Amino acid sequence: MGKDKISKFEAIKGFSHVIEHATAEGDSVKGNWRSKVFKNDNSIVLELGCGKGEYSVGLAEFYPNKNFIGCDIKGNRIFIGAKDALDKKLENVAFLRTRIDYINDFFEENEVDEIWLTFSDPQPKKPRKRLSSPLFIDRYKKLIKPGGIVHMKTDSDILFEYTVDEIKDKYEMLEYTWDLYGELPENLDAVTREIFHIKTHYEKLFTARGSVIKYCKFKIS
Ligand SMILES: C[S@@+](CC[C@H](N)C(=O)[O-])C[C@H]1O[C@@H](n2cnc3c(N)ncnc32)[C@H](O)[C@@H]1O
Repeated sequence: MGKDKISKFEAIKGFSHVIEHATAEGDSVKGNWRSKVFKNDNSIVLELGCGKGEYSVGLAEFYPNKNFIGCDIKGNRIFIGAKDALDKKLENVAFLRTRIDYINDFFEENEVDEIWLTFSDPQPKKPRKRLSSPLFIDRYKKLIKPGGIVHMKTDSDILFEYTVDEIKDKYEMLEYTWDLYGELPENLDAVTREIFHIKTHYEKLFTARGSVIKYCKFKIS
């Protein structure tokens, strides 16, 4: 492992707003995010596969009265978002380093209000591993409040088509577009427009290659 990665892993150990699996903090957050981590009663928005956390940090700036948690397994990526949140003095952002497969070990029933899936891996050969597969949706249903919303932003046709097919007959699809930026309604309010324009690391890479960005929003409970 490179020196840079090691120093980022060491650094996040000292960040009180980064919770890592297999630690005492990791074992004690379930059901306690509001009381122990954020110290408020505000709603919780979870970004799964957050990478460098651009959405978690970007949304936290727009919504100081909501709490945001970026979750990823890669500590060196989380470091970047966690450092950004510290530099911006944001107290409503935290990060959880774990595999999303174990997400129910970290959240109590109804603890989460909303979920964002940002440029998730399309897993072309392993549909079960897609973050919108029935396996993962069942996990989210255990932690999201009734009426809780899931947002997905992706460049991937495979992942998007799969997600729309999975969701449309079983759950309530609220919005979907195969060309987010091409189809943004002119009368969209300014904040929502800004939110859609938050660009993650992978969105910038895919856009530079000419990919069209897709978006959908659905209710799973
Ligand atoms: C393509 S990247 C997107 C990162 C970021 N959302 C962005 O748009 O730049 C997918 C991210 O999901 C994370 N990831 C994929 N599967 C995961 C899993 N099962 N548990 C935790 N993280 C996972 C990867 O580590 C990676 O950072």
